[in-house]
Amino acid sequence: MNSEDNVRPLVSADADFEERTFESALRPKTLAEFGGQRRVSEQLELVLHAARGRNGVPDHVLLSGPPGLGKTTLAMIIASELSAPLRITSGPAIQHAGDLAAILSGLSEGEVLFLDEIHRMSRPAEELLYMAMEDFRVDVIVGKGPGATAIPLEIPPFTLVGATTRAGLLPGPLRDRFGFTGHLEFYEASELERIINRSAELLQVDMTAEGGAEIASRSRGTPRIANRLLRRVRDYAQVRADGIITLALAKAALDLYEVDRMGLDRLDRGVLDALCRRFGGGPVGLSTLAVAVGEERETVEEVAEPFLVRSGYLARTPRGRVATPAAWRHLGLNVPKNATFADTLFDADDDA
Ligand SMILES: Nc1ncnc2c1ncn2[C@@H]1O[C@H](COP(=O)(O)OP(=O)(O)OP(=O)(O)O)[C@@H](O)[C@H]1O
Ligand SMILES: [Mg+2]
Repeated sequence: MNSEDNVRPLVSADADFEERTFESALRPKTLAEFGGQRRVSEQLELVLHAARGRNGVPDHVLLSGPPGLGKTTLAMIIASELSAPLRITSGPAIQHAGDLAAILSGLSEGEVLFLDEIHRMSRPAEELLYMAMEDFRVDVIVGKGPGATAIPLEIPPFTLVGATTRAGLLPGPLRDRFGFTGHLEFYEASELERIINRSAELLQVDMTAEGGAEIASRSRGTPRIANRLLRRVRDYAQVRADGIITLALAKAALDLYEVDRMGLDRLDRGVLDALCRRFGGGPVGLSTLAVAVGEERETVEEVAEPFLVRSGYLARTPRGRVATPAAWRHLGLNVPKNATFADTLFDADDDA
C-alpha cells in the first residue's frame, strides 16, 4: 500500500484496485487510439509493423515512466496489435526463479509476457530471465546441493514487455537485453484534453470543450488523474447541476475538491504555504517543514515534493527546501526582495 492512498486520493498518480478495474473500461485498445506520447508510439508502431512483416516476434520492449502515463495500456496494445495472447505478471509476484520458469515454460509461441514493476523481481529470477530473453531457453534446477542438476528447457519465442516506474533501479545487463525502450513523458494539456474528451464520450458525459480543457489543465500531465477528475466532476454535474460539464461547472467542482488551477491539492499548497509564510521561503530542512504541515517526512518528500519540484515551485538545495518566486506568486503573495532563491544557493561558487 502506497502512502499516497490515504493522504490524497484525488491527485495521486497511483490507483487502487477498484480504480484499476474502472480504468480498464477507458483503456485505448489500439495505437491509433492511444493519444500523446507521439515519439514512443511512432517508434513502437515501427517495431510492431516490422515484426508483423517478418512474421516473427518483435524485440523485447521496456516501458518506463511515472505512474499513470500509460505503461500497462501500451503493453496491452502491443499484444492486441500483434493479435498475440497476453500473459500478465509482476516483479513482486515472482519471488523465486522457479515461479518465473513455470510462467516461461507455459508460454505459447509469439505470446506477449507483460512483467509489471520489473524492478521488483528477485535477483535469481532476474538471472533466469536474462537467458530466456536472449536464448529462449531456461535452465531448470532439479534437486538440491551437490546433487542438483540443471536441465535446459527450450521455450517458444515470446516478447517480453517490462514496465517500471524506476528505470534507474534496473541492473544494466537487464536493461541491455531489451531491443526497444520507450520512456513515457508527462502529457501536454492539449493531449490530455483529447484523452478527456474520449473518456467523456465513453462514459456518455455531456461536456463542453472549455469544461474538458479546465479538467485537463488541472490533471498534472497524467491521464490517470485526468480520468479520475473527470469522474468526480461528472458526479458534481449530476448532483448539483443538469449533468453538463461546462467551464464554470468544472471550475466550481474542482475548487470544491480542492484541486487548484495548477493541479495542486491541499497538501501541496500547505507545503508551499508553510515554506513561504513560516520560513520566509527557506532554506528549511525537510523534517522541520514536515512538522510545520503536520505530516510525515516521507509524505512531504515522496508525495508532495516531486510535483512541486517538477512544476518549478520548490527546489531542493544542499541547505534545505527553498520556495521559488513562482511559489510566492501562486499563493498570491509578493515575492520578497530578501528571499533566498535556489539559484543563489547553487551558483555561489561560480560567482566567486
Ligand atoms: N495515451 C493515453 N490515451 C488515453 N488514455 C490513457 C493514455 N495513457 C493512459 N491512459 C489512461 O490512464 C489510465 C492509467 O494508465 P495505465 O494503467 O496504463 O498507467 P501505468 O503507466 O501503467 O501506471 P502504473 O505505473 O501505476 O502501473 C488508464 O485508464 C488509461 O486508460
Ligand atoms: Mg501499470
